[in-house]
Amino acid sequence: MIWVIGYKGMLGSEICRQLGENNIQFVRTDVDVDITDIEALDQFAKCWAVTWIINCAAYTAVDKAESDIELAHKLNVEGPENIAKVAKKYGARLIHISTDYVFDGTGDTPRTEDMPVAPIGVYGVTKAKGEEAVRNNTDKYYILRTAWLYGWAGKNFVYTMIRAMNTHDAVKVVNDQKGTPTFAGDLANVILTIISKKGTVPYGIYHCTDLGEITWWDFTNEIKKQGIEKGLVTNKECVVNPCTTDEYPTPAKRPAYSVLSKDKIQNALGITLPDWKESLSKFLHSELFDKSRIE
Ligand SMILES: NC(=O)c1ccc[n+]([C@@H]2O[C@H](COP(=O)([O-])OP(=O)(O)OC[C@H]3O[C@@H](n4cnc5c(N)ncnc54)[C@H](OP(=O)(O)O)[C@@H]3O)[C@@H](O)[C@H]2O)c1
Repeated sequence: MIWVIGYKGMLGSEICRQLGENNIQFVRTDVDVDITDIEALDQFAKCWAVTWIINCAAYTAVDKAESDIELAHKLNVEGPENIAKVAKKYGARLIHISTDYVFDGTGDTPRTEDMPVAPIGVYGVTKAKGEEAVRNNTDKYYILRTAWLYGWAGKNFVYTMIRAMNTHDAVKVVNDQKGTPTFAGDLANVILTIISKKGTVPYGIYHCTDLGEITWWDFTNEIKKQGIEKGLVTNKECVVNPCTTDEYPTPAKRPAYSVLSKDKIQNALGITLPDWKESLSKFLHSELFDKSRIE
């Protein structure tokens, strides 16, 4: 049985949607089975004879983590450690989601899986320690590092920018942080592909985002362009102004360059990941696009 942890979140909900669409049986939990409670996890795994665990639960509020260190540590380090221990005990394979924030954002070439981690904020530190906890407690793991995630469920950058453009004459967006947006549907699809290969994909760390290398400002311009075409951006006159990270201070520092190399996952699965622009179009054109989030 496949167990999705964190099913109410942006990624977890999309994984469940795709599993359902493909008639694949699964069970799902969120805060009802607390990942910091190993007994609760153990009981659940035993009861459902779990063979795959997909952990999407995490502390994901990057800025808040700077002042909420204890809880971020509990959810991003102790949680994955517990899940990995339970996975090992019952012989289940674990897919754990991590982030580009484990890197410091220096350099200008895509990060590969073997590069040393060097997080620059509390969220990144806890996610890096969470990876270590997974590696130290089970052998049958896939750690998938992703970045700039957006999906139909939950708050995300695309919904936020469309709403902002429709209600302001101008928006200011950082133009000195480079990365790749990732549609949750694409990452969920990769996860289902890994599961379909029944453990023949070598265990380890993999980077998985959509393809491309852009800034948040580039992303916003494309959201505006495609949003106008789709009739979602109604304020066509809104100006998208670039700014620097220094002009837009946040409690947590962000990596300046966080493009991840996708070679390893593409080779392992024999796939080509989608280009970020195509995936944005898929996201905006679907009936699953939640218009209530841009009102
Ligand atoms: N979002 C991004 O841009 C991004 C980028 C890179 C990597 N990631 C990683 O991708 C993964 C999925 O992210 P996401 O954005 O889908 O996350 P999300 O929307 O924040 O979902 C996380 C889910 O976990 C639940 N949760 C919180 N504490 C829990 C606990 N103690 N026990 C069980 N469940 C608990 C949350 O419930 P509540 O909402 O009620 O707290 C929420 O439903 C995470 O590992 C994240 O670090 C995300």
